[in-house]
Amino acid sequence: MGNIDSARVLVTGASKGIGKSIVAKLASAHRFVLCVSRSKPDFQGSVGADCVDRITWNPLDLASATAVEEYAASLEPITINTLILSAVEYGEGGRHPASEISASEWQRVVATTLVGQCIMVSRLLPKLIANQPSIIINVSSDVAILPSAGRAAYAAAKAGLHAMLRAVPAEHPSHGLRIYQLIPTFQSLTEGIRRRRPANFDFSSYADPAVIADTVGRIVSPAGNPPPSGTYLIHRDGSLAPYAEPASL
Ligand SMILES: NC(=O)c1ccc[n+]([C@@H]2O[C@H](COP(=O)([O-])OP(=O)(O)OC[C@H]3O[C@@H](n4cnc5c(N)ncnc54)[C@H](OP(=O)(O)O)[C@@H]3O)[C@@H](O)[C@H]2O)c1
Repeated sequence: MGNIDSARVLVTGASKGIGKSIVAKLASAHRFVLCVSRSKPDFQGSVGADCVDRITWNPLDLASATAVEEYAASLEPITINTLILSAVEYGEGGRHPASEISASEWQRVVATTLVGQCIMVSRLLPKLIANQPSIIINVSSDVAILPSAGRAAYAAAKAGLHAMLRAVPAEHPSHGLRIYQLIPTFQSLTEGIRRRRPANFDFSSYADPAVIADTVGRIVSPAGNPPPSGTYLIHRDGSLAPYAEPASL
């Protein structure tokens, strides 16, 4: 049984946006955080100097299955009980129809957002099961469950990851491994989103990524009163509403 105070959290998508905000939140809450992305995150100014020491970043390109396998193997001696998936490759610029998605865009989006993170989950599952109580959180998206015009590649990848993480609890119904899929009902202003919007876009209705990070912080807090595993809508005030997905036809 792992010690939840010393067991580490692993966060994907750590260099920007929601993932970076989650890393900062958890390190500030005295968790030891491993995190990955291609570019190195700069946490100066996001967390106190004492918290920076609790963050270990490694470069990782999730689009490389080999690199993900090697990174996961390197974690063998480390106790990890929390995996948070926030990495995303949104695809080309603005919205564009499925007929205009190139083969290379399909490959990039699916390799990163879906396959790389699925491999990470697969390889870490034995560790998460061994270190119960343990948690997987997927920062999911409305595109995983609703039709989304102009974002077919992103939607396909997010829906695939969402489906994969519905299969896992069906295989491991233990209450010791909690799996959350969080679907924001609002937009957060992140680098990835900014890149996909036209110049002069009005972001005034967009939230700070800290709203989602705070919600994640509450779910993983050993002192908290976490909801049961499942899919949840996150509202703008950080509250969670269960989203009932069909369990049979
Ligand atoms: N922002 C929103 O309004 C919103 C709404 C609903 C759901 N979401 C979900 O929230 C999550 C975070 O979104 P975000 O807007 O914060 O994204 P973002 O600003 O684009 O950040 C994406 C992160 O993924 C990493 N990443 C991208 N390609 C990678 C690769 N090949 N290998 C490793 N890491 C890679 C990036 O790091 P590097 O570039 O350094 O590799 C970055 O840290 C996503 O899962 C998204 O679907 C966001």
